[in-house]
Amino acid sequence: MTFRDYSDLFMIEKGFTGLNHGSYGAVPKAIMEYQYSLMNRMESLTTRFFTRELPHLLEESLETLCNFINSPYESTVFIKNATTAANAVLKSVNFANNDEVVTTNLIYASCRKALDHITSQKGVKVHKVEIPFPANDNTTIFNKVMEKVNERTKLIFIDHITSETATIMPVEMIIEAASKRGIEVFVDGAHAPGMIPLDISKLKPDYYTGNCHKWLYTPKGSAFLYVNPQKFDQMVPTVISNHYNDGKTPAQRFRNSFDWSATMDYSGYACVGKTIEYLEKEVEGGWKEIRKRNHALALKGRDILTDMLNLSPTVPDQMTGSIVTMKLGSKSLKDPKTGLDIVQIELLDKYKIEALITTLYPTDERIIRISAALYNNEEGYVKLGKALKEIVE
Ligand SMILES: Cc1ncc(COP(=O)(O)O)c(C=O)c1O
Repeated sequence: MTFRDYSDLFMIEKGFTGLNHGSYGAVPKAIMEYQYSLMNRMESLTTRFFTRELPHLLEESLETLCNFINSPYESTVFIKNATTAANAVLKSVNFANNDEVVTTNLIYASCRKALDHITSQKGVKVHKVEIPFPANDNTTIFNKVMEKVNERTKLIFIDHITSETATIMPVEMIIEAASKRGIEVFVDGAHAPGMIPLDISKLKPDYYTGNCHKWLYTPKGSAFLYVNPQKFDQMVPTVISNHYNDGKTPAQRFRNSFDWSATMDYSGYACVGKTIEYLEKEVEGGWKEIRKRNHALALKGRDILTDMLNLSPTVPDQMTGSIVTMKLGSKSLKDPKTGLDIVQIELLDKYKIEALITTLYPTDERIIRISAALYNNEEGYVKLGKALKEIVE
């Protein structure tokens, strides 16, 4: 497969190679311009913008997103990010005495901390299932999670695609089994929209969050939260604001509670629909091709690096999207000032490469996670491999 390079659409600084799209995303120039135009409009007459124009812009944008992920409009709201969504969901679940949560060792740090904090306040026990890295098959993961489920389990909290180990988890199997037992499931799909096909109506989770600002290439602070209508009336947003619980029906109360999170810049949310449409047109083959291209490029990047650096195997191809994690075979050394791995610092400062070097939680084993985004090409991984060879040798 040849990988058409779409870097012209983006703003990546000339001479630098950005191989960490997975952490903070990157926005096309055209979408940045659209966002600036919205911000200009907002500042030109703020009350007009907030009260008359913004509601329509958000409605349109959310409609496009809902069609893209096949999520019912009524059950879907914009939210700043996956962390805010996880906080809202965890605060909203009606935990009772002796209830338990089953999760894994792999959930993202912010979510793990929110889970630990909220469950300890509510007196809820958490089982953290250890998933090995690399995991080799869905059935093992599924069995490990379900082994910890018992009659006290109220909630399963599972990632769709794990952050550190870049593993696509068997969420379909888990949701199906959990719903048969009346257990609620919250899926943290921070990386999923745009990276893998997503069909919320088919998946039928109780709660699902996905970041748009990663693999949908939308502005920072744009994500969504899906909630099963049966749970509307128990939902408390992370920020309780003016319209919390206003409305005659559960659907109205849910929408009003989440749509207005007090005065802030909502232009990122308004860009979501436009970004989906823009990239569908701009990339030959649209989103289907974007996912296929990035997945194939991630595997190519992985092969280049594992060959050049003689690294151990990663998770299987079918459990991989467009991020790949590899063990570097060394212990992490952190810069005390920034808390960053010294290799990550050297890669940027000396080689002009942005890559994520971190540790396999909770050990100090050094790992690298590469991303394959529209502005990446094969050469980037060769450049990274050469740099890492020099740094380690
Ligand atoms: C699985 C997962 N959950 C949550 C997050 C947090 O995303 P955000 O900082 O946008 O809340 C990330 C970020 O990389 C993630 O990978």
